[in-house]
Amino acid sequence: MSSKKSKEKKDTEETSVASFLDKELRPLSWEAYIGQEAIKNNLNILLKAAAERGTPPEHVLFYGPPGLGKTTLAHLVARETGRNLKITSGPAIERVGDLASILTNLTAGDILFIDEIHRLNKAIEEVLYPAMESGVLDIIIGKGPSARTIQLELPPFTLLAATTRVAMISSPLRSRFSGGVFRLEFYTEAEIEEILHRSAKIIGVELKGKAAKEIAKRSRFTPRTANYFLKRARDFAQVESKPLDEETVKKALAMLGIDEKGLSPSDKKLLEVMADKFSGGPVGLGTLAAALSEEEATIEEFNEPYLLQLGLIERTTRGRTLTSHGYEHLGKKIPVNLQKKLI
Ligand code: ADE
Repeated sequence: MSSKKSKEKKDTEETSVASFLDKELRPLSWEAYIGQEAIKNNLNILLKAAAERGTPPEHVLFYGPPGLGKTTLAHLVARETGRNLKITSGPAIERVGDLASILTNLTAGDILFIDEIHRLNKAIEEVLYPAMESGVLDIIIGKGPSARTIQLELPPFTLLAATTRVAMISSPLRSRFSGGVFRLEFYTEAEIEEILHRSAKIIGVELKGKAAKEIAKRSRFTPRTANYFLKRARDFAQVESKPLDEETVKKALAMLGIDEKGLSPSDKKLLEVMADKFSGGPVGLGTLAAALSEEEATIEEFNEPYLLQLGLIERTTRGRTLTSHGYEHLGKKIPVNLQKKLI
């Protein structure tokens, strides 16, 4: 399978798992949405002000690691404002004509959500600029010297977009999100516990003792992961006829290869390769990806944010390095140069 195909397959798998989970457990009101307080407060002002003026809210970009609730926020904005939500994604918009068709089919006041907006190509991005800024669609007809542009007026709309790779968003595109560019933060362990109790109620299971705490500790501070682990622990408890307590959680997640900090087998392999093959780095992303037979994008999107958050690795201008905590977590001897740094 070519690397592009394999990435597309991976994306599809991630998306289908995500949408299945999200549909059942997605909060349907601001009150039910736990965490991301700063973003909720800012959106609240943005939406109220627009409603008072009687205009559609301005365009907003959400970014951050996968599973933190970017799509959920888009659904909530639509609900809160009573507007239609049309959903598409960067990879689904292959041609300028695809975007033109989406935009011309909007009704006044609609909200358009473009997930993975970093996957839009340059030509399509350029059609988006005047649409976002002036509400017009510039269409070029013909080629060469006889080419001419016609301008179509679009119905007023709000673009909500999401990306896991904000560095890939060009600055002209970023600057057109006049309503704001919001970074979703990792959740606290307490927030994840609260989310787990809510989800447990929805799927009809009882979390006993410290079960929620044990799942939260391994959840990568990410609701999607926490909810996924909850369901796997529920399955384990059901098949083994055990209560859903901390023992069951520990056994179920150990079976999935998840360690006590929530690291997956692929995270562990990454740390081990950094220690054993590259003497702790610095090692460039491309080199690391080749050594792991993994896509660079997968490492950047799925592995690194959490490893950085835990302080197990660091990103420097010369590449990624394993920290003393990283060595400690692997149970390996900390190299002398890092020991000195600690003192
Ligand atoms: N399920 C997934 N994310 C959630 C959140 N932020 N609040 C409540 N339930 C959730």
